[in-house]
Amino acid sequence: MKKIGLFAVLAAIVGFGFVNSCAKDKVPVITTTPDCVDTIHFATQIAPMIQDNCLGCHDTGGSLPTLTNHSEISASATAVLSTLHGTPQLMPQGGPALNDTLIQQFTCWISQGKLNN
Ligand code: HEC
Repeated sequence: MKKIGLFAVLAAIVGFGFVNSCAKDKVPVITTTPDCVDTIHFATQIAPMIQDNCLGCHDTGGSLPTLTNHSEISASATAVLSTLHGTPQLMPQGGPALNDTLIQQFTCWISQGKLNN
């Protein structure tokens, strides 16, 4: 009886450790695909957002990426999106970050194929 009790305690400890380590190893599955039910329009949604928030600095010349038209914005889209999230630095420079709806729109515009519509 004593032996069984000890075994049970050991099994419980080992078992707990096992379950615990499994739980820690589990990477949470985060669904990053936004719910892009509406088609995003470049002319009325993306271009004005960039114009209002970015072109003060990203219009022409210099070492900064220019974001004045569809092809420039498309070419820089991935970098633009990551700066909207603060990586490698937050844009618009000096903040505040754009609101989530605008960032979501930009994300959807990319996932819908960066349409020039
Ligand atoms: C006040 C001026 C200013 C505004 C407004 C601004 N930027 Fe910038 N941006 C900069 C500067 C300066 C850099 C270079 C920063 C550096 O290299 O450290 C930069 C860099 C970038 C880069 C390159 C980042 C990289 O290192 O890969 C992207 C993309 C960018 N900006 C996008 C944007 C977008 C999108 C907006 C509007 C939402 C915006 N910026 C608004 C000044 C600005």
